Amino acid sequence: MTKKKIFITDFIQDDLQPERKILDDLADVIACNAFHENELTDTIAQADAIMLYHNLSLTRFTISKLQNCKLIVRCGVGFDNVDYRFAREKGIPVANVPDYGTEEIADSAIGMILALTRGIHFLNSKLREPSTNTASEWTYKPIAPLYRLRGRTLGIIGLGRIGSATALRAKALGLRVVFYDPYLADGFDKSYGVIRVESLTELLNQSDIVSVHCPRSPETHHLLNAQTIALLPRGAYLINTARGDIVDTKAIPEAIANGQLSGAAIDVLSQEPPADNDSFIQAWRDVKHPCYHRVIVNPHSAFYSEEGLQDMRIKGANACRNALLGHRLRNIVNA
Ligand SMILES: NC(=O)c1ccc[n+]([C@@H]2O[C@H](COP(=O)([O-])OP(=O)(O)OC[C@H]3O[C@@H](n4cnc5c(N)ncnc54)[C@H](O)[C@@H]3O)[C@@H](O)[C@H]2O)c1
Repeated sequence: MTKKKIFITDFIQDDLQPERKILDDLADVIACNAFHENELTDTIAQADAIMLYHNLSLTRFTISKLQNCKLIVRCGVGFDNVDYRFAREKGIPVANVPDYGTEEIADSAIGMILALTRGIHFLNSKLREPSTNTASEWTYKPIAPLYRLRGRTLGIIGLGRIGSATALRAKALGLRVVFYDPYLADGFDKSYGVIRVESLTELLNQSDIVSVHCPRSPETHHLLNAQTIALLPRGAYLINTARGDIVDTKAIPEAIANGQLSGAAIDVLSQEPPADNDSFIQAWRDVKHPCYHRVIVNPHSAFYSEEGLQDMRIKGANACRNALLGHRLRNIVNA
């Protein structure tokens, strides 16, 4: 039997041990290490399955060439970098790997909540100022007033995999957890012991902390903006580990400066890395702006752990194996 061919388009460029361990008896695994689909040679037309990461987009240009492809697997959660609709027209299933970083992202969201609401980030940042080695400055007082976390309300937007993992962790901290998710069937509030609300306004009106866990879509574009941030109780905290477009970060510097937000933690931006003239980034880098001490920015790293990276590869390779063997496929996003 001739061996099948699996192409890894991008991102992975080592000895491919995780993939080969799973696929070796069935297929040759070829890493292309491309940064743009133009760099993929015509041999990809022979692919029996494709593993795609995030360094490039797979469009109609490549998909139309595929002759035997049984599966395109996006080794990650978001699948907006593959033309999954065109793939469906061609009869090629597209799957994602939705769970490689669920716990890490929830842990990061909780870490950000604690770093902000306990004043950990603010005080660490403030104490770096040269003038702080005096008894009057070496104190909690610059962050006062802070309030006990137990009993405060965490509002979760999107109670999917990551939102629910965050909710369960937050409950252990004594937070009252409320969520808004118009697409979730009834009953999950009961499974998780959290409170459902019917509108974003209802959620924001009562959230001392709001954490975003919904997908990017036309509907969620700038869901949090100057107007909706104003619906939060004064002095609230905003956490975004979902997708950049969902929060209009331009609104954050003013909300921090006028005290509407006490802090924000942003793992994801609309443009990554951001432009130097991005007004939010400029305020965060400006030692004279209150964002300097009150805002945390991370480089879209909430998902990261060594185990998660391995999971991405192993789960992607297993999906290809199932496709080659004609087994039932999971996590198909273009059925
Ligand atoms: N920062 C990172 O490193 C990183 C890594 C992976 C995923 N993510 C992001 O995390 C987010 C959540 O991922 P997930 O795996 O939990 O997804 P999921 O599909 O399991 O859950 C998303 C939930 O959001 C809900 N939803 C959809 N539209 C909504 C709306 N308009 N308002 C409120 N809720 C809405 C859905 O019903 C669903 O329950 C996604 O945006 C994903 O891209 C971030």
